Amino acid sequence: MRKNKPTPTVQSLFEPRSIAVIGASASPGKIGHSIMNNIVSGGYRGSVYPVNPKGGDMFGLPVARDINDIEDDIDLVSISVPAPLVLQAVEACARKGVKHIQIITSGFSEIGNTEEEHRIADIARDHGIRVLGPNIFGLFSAAASLNATFSASTIPSGHVAILTQSGALGIAMIGKTGVENIGLSAIVSLGNKCDLDEADLLEYLVAQEQTKVILMYIEGVKDGEELISALNRATRHKPIVVIKSGRSKRGAMAAASHTGSLAGSDAVFDAIMRQCGVLRADSIEEAFNWCKFLAFSPLPSGNNTVIVTNGGGVGVMATDACERFGIELLDDQAALKKIFGPATPSFGSTKNPIDITGGAGAPDYELALSAPVGSEQIDATIALYCETATFDSNNLAAMISDTFTRHRTAGKPISYAVVGGEKVDAAMRKLVVENVPVYADVYDAVSAMGAAYRYRRFQSDRPDQAEMAEIDLARIEAVIDNALAENRTFLLSNEGAQVMEAAGITIPQTRVVKNIDAAVHVADEIGYPVVLKIVSRDILHKSDAGGVALDLDDRTELVDAYEAILHNARQYDPNATIDGVEVAEMIRPGTELIVGARVDQSFGPVVMCGFGGIYVEVMKDVAFRASPLHRNEVLAMLKEIRSFPILMGVRGEKQRDIDTVIDTIIRISTIIERCKKITDIEINPIVVYGQGEGIKALDARILISKINTGGKPS
Ligand code: COA
Repeated sequence: MRKNKPTPTVQSLFEPRSIAVIGASASPGKIGHSIMNNIVSGGYRGSVYPVNPKGGDMFGLPVARDINDIEDDIDLVSISVPAPLVLQAVEACARKGVKHIQIITSGFSEIGNTEEEHRIADIARDHGIRVLGPNIFGLFSAAASLNATFSASTIPSGHVAILTQSGALGIAMIGKTGVENIGLSAIVSLGNKCDLDEADLLEYLVAQEQTKVILMYIEGVKDGEELISALNRATRHKPIVVIKSGRSKRGAMAAASHTGSLAGSDAVFDAIMRQCGVLRADSIEEAFNWCKFLAFSPLPSGNNTVIVTNGGGVGVMATDACERFGIELLDDQAALKKIFGPATPSFGSTKNPIDITGGAGAPDYELALSAPVGSEQIDATIALYCETATFDSNNLAAMISDTFTRHRTAGKPISYAVVGGEKVDAAMRKLVVENVPVYADVYDAVSAMGAAYRYRRFQSDRPDQAEMAEIDLARIEAVIDNALAENRTFLLSNEGAQVMEAAGITIPQTRVVKNIDAAVHVADEIGYPVVLKIVSRDILHKSDAGGVALDLDDRTELVDAYEAILHNARQYDPNATIDGVEVAEMIRPGTELIVGARVDQSFGPVVMCGFGGIYVEVMKDVAFRASPLHRNEVLAMLKEIRSFPILMGVRGEKQRDIDTVIDTIIRISTIIERCKKITDIEINPIVVYGQGEGIKALDARILISKINTGGKPS
């Protein structure tokens, strides 16, 4: 639990005044040697203390035989001794009273050695030490010129911070940032996350000026609720790009009749990232493309984008990609003609895409790309270039560099795609050095702009405070306690109905009566048509026994049916005890949704909704959100369902009662938030009627836990 955690600030991890290296080695090729070498040659400004029982000197520094021989206070210790020696090294650090430890060593929970890792974490926590790792490649922090990694490449300083759970991928990313000239403000390997995790480190990176974009590679989430809060705070200030492995849906939808199964963890992760305003990339390439764009370009301030091209084909490709990435193209033909007319030949086109044609030379591009800079109607530009004989590609880098700078100074983003041969490649390499984001593919240029748009829209449409509904908590808890007293971990259908009622969710009206007069009275109250069902603990299959009568339109039909089903039941089983007859509202058909909530192992309470009924498994049309949530977020979740247009009404149908659906989802979210013994709720179907006509929750299945889990499943 976090409350037991010690409190040295994460700033002293990223900006330590002193660092000791336990396992420092003078032997080239050893990890302890690489770390020492990187710290010393990286220009770290604090004090460095190699620690090795052999003593002596290395890298021109005296070697302490034990960390406790060092007189100075130590902010950060790097440990790279074999796994069996790590615990005693951590104990020595505890005696010394250090602030942070990074444990490079592998051989802990990642291979099942969980106990040792827990012991290390416990000692650290008891002594107020924060731990990075184990099983990491280390930490680079530009703010302290500290390269405490064993990476073979030097790390250029810049504006992107990387948090990575995979060490190998992290090291590869360092290499790639070098090639692409994406300077880093920090790169931290998180490894097994026995203590410090993404949420802790985000706190520092969000406040740190140099970091403009944060890239995270995540494999698994340990404390999802904390991560959600950290991401929500972080995306207020800077864009976050995430790559998470495990997108495959295999198995996630396997048992679709159950909310828990529908909430395949990757689908939940994906939804929650979107909810937090995090940009999830599909590949490392895409993530880097986005990062370099977001690090060096301003965000668009409105929705009007133009595509400027010298090739019709790439213009069409970019138009398609814009649709895919939700980029709106300026469509005011008169304005476009006025703005781009002077730069477009008569055989070109000022319709968006603006085609300045294959004959365009560098001056034509300069002219066309200058137009958006001063235009109030244009917020962003996608500039495409195909190599032609009329544009000497030797001038390409200068043209791009110049127009990019002018756009940036005007606070407008511009994304370039350049397609061609060697000279175009050379231009790209030149631009990479100048930190101008240029892409070799139209799709990449548009995708990067799309990421900027998504982040900007999230910032402007950020939902307000989450909402909770009024529910009768005491009544719900009484129902649960009753079930638990009977050793059940599920509620019976009538108990589920009681929970719905207590939460203010409309269920079909139903009552059990003992005689015809009472049945008539109840049916009058409910309103015709009604349904009658025999109630007998001895008759499980009511329909088989002729114990069900549907669609009874008036008193006469009701009385006849009442007598008939009693007669049928007695015929079916003369010894059956008849407890009464259920009079229920006949449910009109409507649009069927599924709504549910569960306590996710990683992220805590999560809600879902989707297209329901018996086709849930086939349709797999569901959306998720972390709970609690605001109405706008619920609406956004509903809009993610492919079948959302059905709720809006198709072919002259009336719009469905979306307001009541939103209200119901908030009520379900409130139940899972406030009733800590409920782990799963699924209502399938919820029948939704026309606008203002409400919903009916037909079948609520609820799972409960014996332990009050405080939001986590037992
Ligand atoms: N205090 C300080 N130094 C100590 C020590 C102690 N108590 N006990 C041993 N050492 C020294 C060793 O003498 C050696 O120095 P030397 O070269 O002068 O002899 C140094 O620490 C390293 O120990 P060694 O036994 O040589 O181990 P190693 O370098 O072969 O391997 C690890 C150590 C940590 C690198 C290895 O166990 C490991 O975990 N490798 C995987 C790391 C990894 O991949 N991490 C994840 C990356 S994503």
